[in-house]
Amino acid sequence: MIRLFLVGFGNVGRELARLLKDRSSPFTDFNTRHFSVTSIATRSHGSLSAAEGIDVQKALNYFLQKGRFDRGCDGFTNAATDELLQHTDYDVLVDLSALELKDFARSSAQRLERALRAGKHVVTANKGPIAFHYQKLKTLAQKQQRKLLFESTVMDGTPIFNMYRAALAGATVKQFSGILNSTTNFLLGELESGVELPAALDKARRLGMVEADANHDLQGWDAALKSAILCNVFFDTQIDPFQIPRDSFERITPEDVQKAKKAGKRLKFVAGGSHENGQIKAWVKLQVLKADHPFFSVDASSSILQIELKNLATLTIVQRHPTITDTAYGVISDLLQILKIYKERKTQ
Ligand SMILES: NC(=O)c1ccc[n+]([C@@H]2O[C@H](COP(=O)([O-])OP(=O)(O)OC[C@H]3O[C@@H](n4cnc5c(N)ncnc54)[C@H](OP(=O)(O)O)[C@@H]3O)[C@@H](O)[C@H]2O)c1
Repeated sequence: MIRLFLVGFGNVGRELARLLKDRSSPFTDFNTRHFSVTSIATRSHGSLSAAEGIDVQKALNYFLQKGRFDRGCDGFTNAATDELLQHTDYDVLVDLSALELKDFARSSAQRLERALRAGKHVVTANKGPIAFHYQKLKTLAQKQQRKLLFESTVMDGTPIFNMYRAALAGATVKQFSGILNSTTNFLLGELESGVELPAALDKARRLGMVEADANHDLQGWDAALKSAILCNVFFDTQIDPFQIPRDSFERITPEDVQKAKKAGKRLKFVAGGSHENGQIKAWVKLQVLKADHPFFSVDASSSILQIELKNLATLTIVQRHPTITDTAYGVISDLLQILKIYKERKTQ
């Protein structure tokens, strides 16, 4: 059994738990045979740990009912996450914790670093560590011969990094651009329909689309971090996300949106990055797009990524109306890669 330590039991963590246990889900079988969730840590909602494996369905039901873990749950502990990580054994750290911008994602990156040093594999949906500390973590993972996987960090689990590592292994990316933040794209659509911003934001929150700190979306941080991650991986570099010029939602008025609409155009936040003449640049720009632009029809929570390659045709990947299931699936696809290593080792 591959033992999983989940850090975070928010929207993504709970959906992952649901997918792993849902009888109609194709993942239940592989989960039961190959994976065992041995710890679930939260920051302020209690944690669980059981060497023999947690009954994930029971834990999920309890959390949904009570809103937290407490003494009524098998394996309950009040131990802090890092203490628990230090004193329990596991094989894969699955980081589903919230983004901490103010410390440049240092504490979450340190957690991943300690796990890699201890010989664990790491899967993360948290953008912070990969945007701010990619090179350090990647080098350590290579040295330790462990996986560092993060499919869910960009476009909610769309297989971008899987595709890049496997199918595009021999190709070179020149430039990329796309609509990468669902929240602002959704809000722009609501403003186009005449909805006021506070009501639109409430709706986005109810749909589970807004980051724990809404400013991460509104001020362009989420899109900037995704650009940073794509630059880090595509151009094998370490971008400083704070240096990325960002247009913020605060620049927009409902009148701007309506004016564009009347002219048959749309306002969109476009994030991008390029590597040309030895220079790497990243950006998040508010653009007025005409109807023939490939990003024009990307609505609501949908995303698009266009990748320009040297010597190969441009690729465009569109993800239409993803849900939290897509994000949780990105984590599962990373776990499947780790499972493959275990299976290969067994057959050697
Ligand atoms: N939601 C999406 O659609 C989506 C899509 C792609 C990527 N992501 C990323 O995936 C991650 C999880 O997203 P989410 O929507 O599940 O966030 P969320 O609902 O805010 O949940 C975050 C979870 O992390 C826990 N946490 C924070 N710091 C912790 C620590 N030091 N130790 C243990 N647990 C800690 C929180 O515990 P407390 O509640 O007790 O503080 C909570 O359980 C985020 O980094 C997000 O950016 C989310």
